[in-house]
Amino acid sequence: MYRIKTVKGDITKITDVQAVVNAANNSLLGGGGVDGAIHRAAGPELLAECRTLHGCKTGEAKITKAYNLPCDYVIHTVGPIWNGGRNREEELLASCYFHSMKLALEYGIRKIAFPSISTGVYHFPVELAAKIAVKTVSKFLNDNPDRFELVEWVLFDSVTEGIYKTEVDKLFMKTNKTINYYNMNAKEFVSDTLSVDFELTQKTFISKLPKGALILDFGCGSGRDTKYFISQGYQVDAIDGSVELCKLASEYTGIDVKNILFNEFSQNEKYDAIWACSSILHLPLNELLDVMHRMMMALKNNGIIYTSFKYGTFEGERNGRYFTDMTEETFADFIKLIDNVMIEELWITSDVRPERGEEKWLNIILRKK
Ligand code: APR
Repeated sequence: MYRIKTVKGDITKITDVQAVVNAANNSLLGGGGVDGAIHRAAGPELLAECRTLHGCKTGEAKITKAYNLPCDYVIHTVGPIWNGGRNREEELLASCYFHSMKLALEYGIRKIAFPSISTGVYHFPVELAAKIAVKTVSKFLNDNPDRFELVEWVLFDSVTEGIYKTEVDKLFMKTNKTINYYNMNAKEFVSDTLSVDFELTQKTFISKLPKGALILDFGCGSGRDTKYFISQGYQVDAIDGSVELCKLASEYTGIDVKNILFNEFSQNEKYDAIWACSSILHLPLNELLDVMHRMMMALKNNGIIYTSFKYGTFEGERNGRYFTDMTEETFADFIKLIDNVMIEELWITSDVRPERGEEKWLNIILRKK
C-alpha cells in the first residue's frame, strides 16, 4: 500500500525520497523558484548534465542524477504557463505528473517528492493544479499497484500546503468514511444482516468447492457467511476493515476475524475461494482494480470469487458510505482489465431484506484461469 502525503518545506532538503521533481522550463538550464533552488543545492554538475539533454517539451519529463541533493535523482518536468485555460494547460499539467511518475517507474524509484508544479512563476491556479496533481498521481498508483511506497508534495507555503492537503484527504475520505460508518453503526448493521437468509447464494458458491476447501471471507461484516461455511465443513479466514465488526464477528463465528483494509491485504495463492459479498462495492472504482489484483493473487489457480454490487451506474456516497454500483456492461468492462480471470456466472437478484425488494443486486462468480 502506498502513502500519499503533503509536507510544508523546501524540496531541496527532503531526505525520505529517491527522487525530487523539478518545476523546470523548456531549456532545462535553470531559473528561479524551485528550479533555482534545486540547481543551487545540487551544484554545477547538475547544470552540466542538463546541458546534455537539449531541453524538454512542456508536459514531458527528463531525469538526471541529483549530485549534492540528499536523493538519487532529479526528474525535470516543464509545466504549462497559465493562459486562462485556453491552451490545454490542464492536460499539460496532468501530463507532467504522468510522465514524471512513468519515468520514476522505469528507474525503479519507489519514493518521490513533487513541488506544486506551475503554480509559481507560471501562475497556474493552485486549487485546480492540486486537483489535477492528486487525481493524476492517484490514478497512476492504482494502475501500477505495489510499485510505489511514497509520493509526497513538498509545499513552500502554508496556503499551498493546505490546498494540496485538502485534495489528498479527499482521496482517503471515501474509504475512511465507510469504515467509520461501520465502526459507528456496527451493532445495528449486524442485527440488520445477521438473520438474513442468504442460503441460496451461499449454496451456489460452495457447490463449486471441494469439501474442506479454504475460503476467505473478504469483508465478512457480521460473520453470517463465515459461520455458515464453517457449519458446512469448510475452513474459513475472515477479514474486515471495521475493527468493531471484527470484534462482533469474532464473537459470533468463534474465529479470529482480522482487521485488515482491502488495499493492504496480501496473500499468495492461498485460497480455494474468496467470498466478497457486498463488500468491495464500497471501494471507489479507482481502488477496485488494485484490490481485485490482490484478490486474484491470493487465489489458487482455478479458484473462484463470489462478489456482489448494487445494480446500476451510480458511484458516490449514500448515507455515509461510499458505493460503486455495477451493471453487466460496466463490470464486464472492468474485469477486462484483469488477466487470467473469467466470469463464470452472473445473475441479478432483489434485495433479500424485507422492504428492500426493489433494490437490485448484480451477483458474479469469477474463476481464476
Ligand atoms: N521547495 C518547494 N517548493 C518551492 C521551492 C522549494 N525550494 N521554491 C519555490 N517553491 C514553490 C513555489 O512557491 C510554488 O508554489 O514551488 C511552486 C512552483 O513555483 P515555481 O518554482 O515558480 O515553478 P513554476 O510555477 O512551475 O514556474 C517554472 O519558474 O523557476 C522558474 O525556471 C523555472 O521557468 C521556470 C518557471
